[in-house]
Amino acid sequence: MGSSQTSIPPKTISFFTVLFLFLSTSSAQNVLLRGSYLSVEDDSDILTSPEKTFSCGFYGMGQNAYWFSIWFTNSKDRTVVWMANRDRPANGRGSRVSLRRGGAMVLTDVDGSIIWETNTTSTDVERAELLDTGNLVLIGPGSKILWQSFDFPTDTLLPNQLFIKRTKLIARLHSGSYASGYFSFFFDNDNVLRLIYDGPDISSIYWPSPDFDVFGNGRTNYNSSRTAVYDEMGHFISSDQLQFSASDTGLLRIERRLTIDHDGNLRLYSLKNDTGLWVISWQALSQLCNVHGICGINSICAYTPDPECSCPPGYEITEPGNWNKGCKPMFNQTLSQSQQVKFVQLPHVDYWGFDLNFSASTTLDSCMELCLGDYRCKAFSYSLDGGGRCFTKGVLFNGYRSPSFPGNIYLRLPVSFETSQLRILNGTDPICQSSESETTIGSPSMYSINTKRTRWVYFYSFASAIGFIELLFIVSGWWFLFRNRGLPNLMEDGYHAVLSPFRRFTYTELKKATNNFKEELGRGGSGAVYKGILTDERVVAVKRLENMYQGEDVFWAEVSTIGKINHMNLVRMWGFCSEGKHRLLVYEYMEYQSLDKHLFSPTFLQWKDRFKAALGIAKGLAYLHHECLEWVIHCDVKPGNILLDSGFEPKIADFGLAKLSQRGGNSSDFSQIRGTKGYMAPEWATNLPVTAKVDVYSYGVVILEIVKGIPLSNWVIEGREEHESDLARFGRVVKRKIQCGEVSWIEEIVDPRLNGKFSRNQATTIVELGISCVEEDRNKRPTMDAVVQALLECQDVDGRCS
Ligand SMILES: *[C@@H]1O[C@H](CO)[C@@H](O)[C@H](O)[C@H]1NC(C)=O
Ligand SMILES: *[C@@H]1O[C@H](CO)[C@@H](O)[C@H](O)[C@H]1NC(C)=O
Ligand SMILES: *[C@@H]1O[C@H](CO)[C@@H](O)[C@H](O)[C@H]1NC(C)=O
Ligand SMILES: *[C@@H]1O[C@H](CO)[C@@H](O)[C@H](O)[C@H]1NC(C)=O
Ligand SMILES: *[C@@H]1O[C@H](CO)[C@@H](O)[C@H](O)[C@H]1NC(C)=O
Ligand SMILES: *[C@@H]1O[C@H](CO)[C@@H](O)[C@H](O)[C@H]1NC(C)=O
Repeated sequence: MGSSQTSIPPKTISFFTVLFLFLSTSSAQNVLLRGSYLSVEDDSDILTSPEKTFSCGFYGMGQNAYWFSIWFTNSKDRTVVWMANRDRPANGRGSRVSLRRGGAMVLTDVDGSIIWETNTTSTDVERAELLDTGNLVLIGPGSKILWQSFDFPTDTLLPNQLFIKRTKLIARLHSGSYASGYFSFFFDNDNVLRLIYDGPDISSIYWPSPDFDVFGNGRTNYNSSRTAVYDEMGHFISSDQLQFSASDTGLLRIERRLTIDHDGNLRLYSLKNDTGLWVISWQALSQLCNVHGICGINSICAYTPDPECSCPPGYEITEPGNWNKGCKPMFNQTLSQSQQVKFVQLPHVDYWGFDLNFSASTTLDSCMELCLGDYRCKAFSYSLDGGGRCFTKGVLFNGYRSPSFPGNIYLRLPVSFETSQLRILNGTDPICQSSESETTIGSPSMYSINTKRTRWVYFYSFASAIGFIELLFIVSGWWFLFRNRGLPNLMEDGYHAVLSPFRRFTYTELKKATNNFKEELGRGGSGAVYKGILTDERVVAVKRLENMYQGEDVFWAEVSTIGKINHMNLVRMWGFCSEGKHRLLVYEYMEYQSLDKHLFSPTFLQWKDRFKAALGIAKGLAYLHHECLEWVIHCDVKPGNILLDSGFEPKIADFGLAKLSQRGGNSSDFSQIRGTKGYMAPEWATNLPVTAKVDVYSYGVVILEIVKGIPLSNWVIEGREEHESDLARFGRVVKRKIQCGEVSWIEEIVDPRLNGKFSRNQATTIVELGISCVEEDRNKRPTMDAVVQALLECQDVDGRCS
């Protein structure tokens, strides 16, 4: 703050400045010349990018907090994309940003003290300029860029802004603050892009999933260039092989931003130019409870169905209204170590990480002993998964409740502590609740953040009677007396309380319903299906699973997850049976059998029904892959697994079973190849992790068969080349015909039995989609969302594609 600068008379420093201001006083300017400044007191002291997308100047909140910022001019609430001084706001009077003669851009407070400055002191900066990209640059002679705001992002990355080794996006502290918070997005030391909660006491990485290693998450740590960027179309690519696309990708001229939000999630947004609101076009985590630290220490996140935080019994919120601080114990923890203690069971709750000790294949009693034997143990997690897994916890962090978690937390509390008045949230699984939203299926992940903002409700301990199951077992000198007594029954209670609406059947019941498994409807890899009639006269299909070895509780948890999935293009599960060695699933009965029976037999489907099938299957899969918060990969999509209802509406059967058998054997996920020859993606044969793109491949085969009306195995394809699959050859031949301008290529492909009665545009769209779905390189295959979108565009009755 050299004295020469402080004496500069406002805005009259040089002839050029005067001339410039004179020429541009009424129109918005995008340039600040050397020696001039922007004042906090003058609202019109703003730089605007040439196309007016971005503005730069003082951004104020309340009376006396101002930040030198860049924001979107057209977004409804002036969304900020960059801030110079987020952690040190400037005064609402007398503050200014000057481009000093010395070359630095400097933000000074009312008393002249420097709040922020660029590292361009003693350079020959000529001007500051706000570009159309949202980048504020300091330019020297020869248009050389000496400094740019793109090198110092705050919580947002704009299209074409390079994200590199030393840059970091840091979330805001909370929705009402611009200060640096605890969540950040960065390149980790092993070259992998990550999200971390880095709080005052605890830090914990939560994305990509800490349950898998780098490659299991589809990343690599071998490329040390550490760069990431995304383009205007919404394609993101990074050196660790993270790649994704916005759900509205391809639409140029959409304003986008990638922001790490104050809730710890990383989201790509698109601006709706008619409303000025942002919609989400991609997000890193679909389940917000997986964000570590979102509920603070000791507290528990549950979906109700929006994520909400609550305190466990014996704990209360540390600072009402602020879940960042979590919950504090209502008893003296140091004292409780010497006291008699009891354990309170929280069904289906777990705290991630911070284990003191782990033991597998152990009993509940020995797990409890392990916790009692360690003064640091605040709770233990016990699940029957894998023959009794026991984790003792030194810190209670990242708590969440999910009915599909097959275990419980046992909280250690002083025996004197009264817990009868306590309640915790029961919550639901983070899974598709229902199919109420047929219309939104084209863009399932897009919703206005204004209408669906997460609520963090403070639940008082006596609030609303909700299913809290409390178990006490007094443990002190005499707890041994209770060994092997009482506990199993109490556990049982816990499970019954979370039973979802669909039913558990007894084996006798199902044996009777199916008339001792008399009428077999079909047989697949996982078992045979029988027709049955329940006592309430509902007709059902009963699937008898073979080779399911996992325990009852795991099976129960998995199946109740599947039972909650409800969509018009998915076969509904009504219940199950798990008794001794018997594992059966009860489904709604579909009268019109499977697609292959209609497509390949002497009778055949009309074009309208074929298109309906292609669209319906795509909607069902898109729902499983994208809208269902818990992603479900089907792994065995084929005409035999597509059932038709009386209106020829397709319904996908057998989803979720891949996951069921996955947990059966050893824990290496998807180690066993699943699927049906001909419909299986090439990556099953390699070591690549299995993603939803395997279903996209199978879907591509199915829709090509729908068009041709012949099973793939019977295709005759011209121009055979060695080492090429039938499908690759088919795709190559079709592409060549299109390129060569052959007019009747589509007529050659479509089922001749239709006698030309089909929509040419719909058929062309389906064949083109089919070919892109069966690309060898899974990254080239579209997502199911994109497929639905493309099909919806040519859904018109007369079949004209828009
Ligand atoms: C200012 O910092 C940026 C980013 O760290 C760097 O690239 C640039 O060379 C620096 N400029 C000067 C003049 O030191
Ligand atoms: C590393 O990543 C960069 C950026 O994605 C890419 O250009 C480069 O080819 C990669 N290097 C290697 C060795 O894969
Ligand atoms: C929004 O942007 C699209 C794409 O550029 C354009 O077609 C449309 O007219 C715009 N709408 C408004 C209200 O500006
Ligand atoms: C907890 O108990 C210990 C031991 O009696 C005592 O020193 C400490 O002050 C107590 N702490 C609180 C917060 O009451
Ligand atoms: C875990 O528990 C076992 C058995 O009690 C004990 O031997 C071991 O030392 C414990 N490990 C740690 C890290 O506390
Ligand atoms: C708790 O679970 C029960 C049984 O599933 C349900 O009826 C009740 O509505 C749930 N309460 C809340 C607050 O979600």
